[in-house]
Amino acid sequence: MIVCVCNNISEGKIHQAVDAGMTSMAELREQLGVGTCCGKCHSCAKHVLRECLNSA
Ligand code: FES
Repeated sequence: MIVCVCNNISEGKIHQAVDAGMTSMAELREQLGVGTCCGKCHSCAKHVLRECLNSA
């Protein structure tokens, strides 16, 4: 599933980012560009991030 349409970031990419050690939206924004365009994906990305962290 694509989380951030503007930057073509999938749920899988966020999983990989968490596996690589990222733990916050700020890091996802800086490293992947999530939410840097229209910002509509912010709450969805946050949700995915939290799920990843919980299952890590
Ligand atoms: Fe992520 Fe637009 S969908 S910034």
